[in-house]
Amino acid sequence: MNKFNAFLSCAILLAMTQFGFAQTIVGSAHDFSGQSWNTTTEICIVCHTPHKADVTVADAPLWNHSLSEVLSYTLYASGTMNSIPGQPDGSSKLCLSCHDGTVALDNFGGVTTGSNFMTGDALVGTSLSNDHPISIDYDAALALADGGLHDPGTTSSGLGGTIAEDMLISGKMQCSSCHDVHNSAVGTNSLLLKSNAASALCLTCHDK
Ligand code: HEC
Ligand code: HEC
Ligand code: HEC
Ligand code: HEC
Repeated sequence: MNKFNAFLSCAILLAMTQFGFAQTIVGSAHDFSGQSWNTTTEICIVCHTPHKADVTVADAPLWNHSLSEVLSYTLYASGTMNSIPGQPDGSSKLCLSCHDGTVALDNFGGVTTGSNFMTGDALVGTSLSNDHPISIDYDAALALADGGLHDPGTTSSGLGGTIAEDMLISGKMQCSSCHDVHNSAVGTNSLLLKSNAASALCLTCHDK
């Protein structure tokens, strides 16, 4: 290896460490292009469509997967909570359109006769009572009331902006406050928004 090549290798290695967290859905748990139940061989189409999208969920990005009809999930409850979690709303409803296990994975693009349901560890189910609370307004007032949460409007998420900018949707904590639905690159699994090594994800919001 000559000097220039050695320099180039270092530069590439550095670039890979810098951008090792580049986000891509290809090859992730959400790449369904190779599934027998997805005859389109496409990736995005299971969740998105350029036309005739389902716009019933607020802010849903060109949604193409059948939504869950469950109206009443069992919610997380605890005496030390300062917020009052509501029924799942916003983008969490999109996740639950597969992860509550009541809608077939192959029910997208208007198909309602699918027969492949989620099983295994990825199944969250209709009881959210043993899951981190979602669909809660997380603002400075909650941080103050709790005493153990950072102010989302002023605290860095470590992802370029504040917690509110990078992790909340319309000021709310949702599934995607911790997960990136399109990301296979953070850690080896769990599609996390950022690494949770040394609990870095948790400590972004929790002042513990
Ligand atoms: C398993 C379902 C799923 C698949 C597959 C999927 N997405 Fe998404 N996408 C979502 C959800 C859910 C959101 C809503 C935002 C969020 O919760 O992260 C979203 C949001 C988006 C957004 C708007 C917000 C943003 O992150 O920019 C774009 C653009 C997008 N997706 C593009 C794509 C493209 C392009 C593909 C295929 C390469 C794709 N998605 C595949 C579920 C999916
Ligand atoms: C179209 C259906 C669908 C939608 C919509 C969907 N998922 Fe998934 N997701 C799946 C399936 C199927 C798996 C399991 C894949 C497997 O078993 O390998 C999965 C796996 C996962 C995993 C585990 C990843 C791993 O590597 O173990 C996480 C985390 C996850 N999903 C989060 C989300 C979140 C958060 C949303 C919404 C923002 C969402 N999903 C939306 C179908 C979906
Ligand atoms: C507070 C952060 C946080 C929120 C909110 C959150 N998750 Fe997770 N989730 C995680 C972490 C961290 C893991 C990895 C856990 C592990 O590896 O032990 C995970 C793991 C998962 C897995 C993989 C489970 C497995 O055993 O393979 C799925 C699927 C999942 N989450 C879906 C969801 C869905 C759907 C929502 C919303 C209803 C949600 N998550 C909300 C942090 C969160
Ligand atoms: C995007 C911000 C955010 C992230 C990331 C996050 N949390 Fe939370 N967490 C919250 C908010 C907001 C609440 C609601 C607090 C309240 O109402 O008192 C909460 C509630 C909780 C509770 C329940 C507290 C109670 O009083 O019952 C626990 C425990 C918890 N989180 C642990 C975790 C762990 C562990 C992680 C990492 C896997 C994590 N959180 C990641 C924002 C976050």
